[in-house]
Amino acid sequence: MIAQVGLGQWGRNLARNFHELTELAWLCDIDDERRAEAQERYPAVRLTASFDEVLSDPAVEAVVVATPVPTHYELARRTLEADKHVFVEKPPAMRGAEMEELCELAEERGRILMPGHLLLYHPGVSKLKELVDSGDLGDVLCVYGNRQNLGTIRTHENALWSLGVHDLSVLLFLIDEEPTELWAHGHAFLNPRVEDIVFCYLRFPSGKIAHLHLSWLDPHKIRRITVVGRDKMAVFDDMEPERKVTVYDKAPEEPTTTYGEWKTRTGDIYSPKVPTTEPLRLECEHFLRLIAGDGDPMRAARDGLVVVRALEHLQASLETVPA
Ligand SMILES: NC(=O)c1ccc[n+]([C@@H]2O[C@H](COP(=O)([O-])OP(=O)(O)OC[C@H]3O[C@@H](n4cnc5c(N)ncnc54)[C@H](O)[C@@H]3O)[C@@H](O)[C@H]2O)c1
Repeated sequence: MIAQVGLGQWGRNLARNFHELTELAWLCDIDDERRAEAQERYPAVRLTASFDEVLSDPAVEAVVVATPVPTHYELARRTLEADKHVFVEKPPAMRGAEMEELCELAEERGRILMPGHLLLYHPGVSKLKELVDSGDLGDVLCVYGNRQNLGTIRTHENALWSLGVHDLSVLLFLIDEEPTELWAHGHAFLNPRVEDIVFCYLRFPSGKIAHLHLSWLDPHKIRRITVVGRDKMAVFDDMEPERKVTVYDKAPEEPTTTYGEWKTRTGDIYSPKVPTTEPLRLECEHFLRLIAGDGDPMRAARDGLVVVRALEHLQASLETVPA
């Protein structure tokens, strides 16, 4: 039996999926209107404004946290302390030390802590990971992400935290190393201290590099991750309705006869089949499988810790140049 706290824009999507997949016992929100709306949609589910009421129900095995970011750490910690599993929207904490504490708590109590890194469950990202891990692209040299559009303009969270958390989770998943060098530059044009445009640079122990362009002040709507391999290159483009992933059989080549003179090779360009399953459905199913004991119970939490640490370093770098 599971419960959910936070029934806003995104919380509604989570509630729909969990209601379809399992027994949703409680829905919790401090806002009367949101509770009334949820009660109408799910008449058999108990509604409350009190998180304590949810935690004190021994039948509740797991809690889904979909409240605003600054509340995540506190609600996730209380859930784990009540010996319940927790799915917590991204990012689960705003500081590496807090996320470490959540991971330790989850391990100590033998409970699942799963951050809501939606893109990791996107079939297009899974295909990209398959291409990277199979060695088909050759050694990965560079991964870069573009997440640009005009809007939605945030007034509290900057582009790094609001947009970057998605791409960061993907590039860390693809490269599977913790970065040792992290830089971010950006500028707050519209609201004081809320950077609208952010550029990030990351370097990994193996020498791989990564880059992110994050912005809500841009004429292009782009949601793209590019992987540059030594032998081939691949792109995940979430704006493409059908060709989510494209592989470019292109690479530089150094002919043995003319050492030091690089040439380029261009071969086929193709799009492997990518299932159209809703990523959120796959993410919710993954959480339920972990609760049922299927899969590495700590992997998602550990990956989430690397993301929070990277965000914290990038934010510190961003602050070294006043916005
Ligand atoms: N994974 C994704 O792609 C994705 C997309 C959008 C949002 N999100 C995340 O989902 C979370 C929620 O986003 P949203 O757009 O639904 O926000 P929202 O502001 O629309 O909704 C948040 C809800 O939480 C309720 N709430 C706040 N504090 C509470 C508390 N202490 N106890 C109970 N209820 C409380 C509010 O009343 C509100 O109804 C955020 O963390 C956001 O980062 C994730």
